[in-house]
Amino acid sequence: MSQIQNEVIATVAERSNLGDYDQACAQFSWEEVKKHFTWNETGKVNMAYEAIDRHVEEGRGAKTALLYSDAHRDEEYSFLDLSEGSNRFGNVLRKYGISKGDRVFIFMPRSPELYLSLLGILKVGGIAGPLFEAFMETAVKDRLEDSGAVALVTTPELLPRIKRDELPLLKHIFVVGGGAQQEEGLVDYDAEIAAASDSLEPEWLTPEDGMLIHYTSGSTGRPKGVYHVHNAMLQHYYTGKVVLDLREDDVYWCTADPGWVTGTSYGIFAPWLNGVTNVIRGGRFSPQDWYQTIVKNKVTVWYSAPTAFRMLMGAGEDVIEQYDLSTLRHVLSVGEPLNPEVVRWGTKAYKQRIHDTWWMTETGGQLICNYPGMNIKPGSMGKPVPGIEAAIINDQGDVLPPYSMGNLAIKTPWPSMMRKIWNNDAKYEEYFRIPGWYISGDSAYMDEEGYFWFQGRIDDVINSSGERIGPFEVESKLLEHEAVAEAGVIGKPDLVRGEIIKAFVALREGYEPSQELKDDIYRFVKEGLSAHAAPREIEFKEKLPKTRSGKIMRRVLKAWELDLPTGDLSTIED
Ligand code: PRX
Repeated sequence: MSQIQNEVIATVAERSNLGDYDQACAQFSWEEVKKHFTWNETGKVNMAYEAIDRHVEEGRGAKTALLYSDAHRDEEYSFLDLSEGSNRFGNVLRKYGISKGDRVFIFMPRSPELYLSLLGILKVGGIAGPLFEAFMETAVKDRLEDSGAVALVTTPELLPRIKRDELPLLKHIFVVGGGAQQEEGLVDYDAEIAAASDSLEPEWLTPEDGMLIHYTSGSTGRPKGVYHVHNAMLQHYYTGKVVLDLREDDVYWCTADPGWVTGTSYGIFAPWLNGVTNVIRGGRFSPQDWYQTIVKNKVTVWYSAPTAFRMLMGAGEDVIEQYDLSTLRHVLSVGEPLNPEVVRWGTKAYKQRIHDTWWMTETGGQLICNYPGMNIKPGSMGKPVPGIEAAIINDQGDVLPPYSMGNLAIKTPWPSMMRKIWNNDAKYEEYFRIPGWYISGDSAYMDEEGYFWFQGRIDDVINSSGERIGPFEVESKLLEHEAVAEAGVIGKPDLVRGEIIKAFVALREGYEPSQELKDDIYRFVKEGLSAHAAPREIEFKEKLPKTRSGKIMRRVLKAWELDLPTGDLSTIED
């Protein structure tokens, strides 16, 4: 067991939406949360209606919903603007025959059109699949193919990365900002939007109808299409209230891209279900730019990630002094372990306690969190959200006592739990192999006060800068390189990024190790998959440790890397 920290950063007993944690847990019921929504009486369910149109119907249409900016644009949208804009795209989709259950993907940099498209897809009952803009050809093709996407929204710059001849089901590509499109299957998004009506009757759904597919990585096999349903809004609304602590006048900024689950659940749904003003900043990270975003928009609630906080910490406090960050009243983090020293630094530098939150693509919403008003133990992920039961269990399903390391597990079900893995029932069932529990794949322990402490992944999944990378996908790409005979990929600890990707490579006959070859292999993965999946370190080996059935033993590679004992080698090839 790792060293247990008892240090506590006491929180001033400020007013919070949660109130007393124990009392909130005791009184909690999802039925009460449901009462916020009208679908109990009307039977009419649609996330986009609840997040956007409902505010218009209830007289809040003029309120600012979106403050968008990047290097070229600076725009403001009211709830009415978003309602009408997404209606327009919904009408365009209907014109092209897209309806309930169809998978429509979005592959573009952050822009207002991205958000309007996503809402429009949900309005006609489509299942939206947002893809991170950094994905390259193979990564995009695998995801579109697996999901059976019929349509895609993209930009002229990203269009060359779509292997259209290999995607027979993909009928329509809406090109944003590309002008008139000449080729069959390409549609001029802007012209269609301009011609479309801004009123639309949404597709009324049931809570269990499909809403989103987010692809994420495991340690084996291709990326998994994690499928979420409209019912998730209960979790997004409730956690938006008690974890993000959103209130009427907040200006909220979530730094995540909608290609990742944080960018949809907490970059779109939670803030807008709660009717607050949402800041979206396009473009890349820089400390000056980020602080300026806070100043310019008077951000009050800020949700980001440990790698970003570590980079901001690295940029130093002189930078902070140039900006007035005093509007901030609540700061949160997600995606990877938040180092205690970063929490302590935030307390000093921002006069804010950074509140860690734990959850996953598969859980659809926050599950274990630090709440405003709660004492924070730096290094702990916090306590379960009211309504969520978390435990540490062993492989047999026994609940373990405090301080035992084991599987971090959640009692099933909860509203935003994934409902399937697209096309892969066997993978889905693996998460629920112990009856009554969802097995997260993380190991952790709980202390005697019910705080959970992250220890690591149980599988080989890599977490680099908060982005989850499956070693298998990277290894498969490496093997496509002409010089590579065998490849094994691990996460190597890194002070800023948490982990970086390191590849061990055995070369084919006729190839010699060299720096040029390393650079070429790096480029090959970067251009085929994405920059975040490319190995920053490559080490050539004569051959790699394999089991007798030919599986690369990543555990042994990791032990080599970290100078640790290699453990049981009885299954190794020779
Ligand atoms: O290992 C845990 C880590 O990120 C994994 C989930 O990654 P993803 O599905 O990409 O979702 C990230 C954002 C919801 C988890 O299994 N992780 C996430 N949050 C934390 C974390 N590790 C430590 N502390 C956290 N707060």
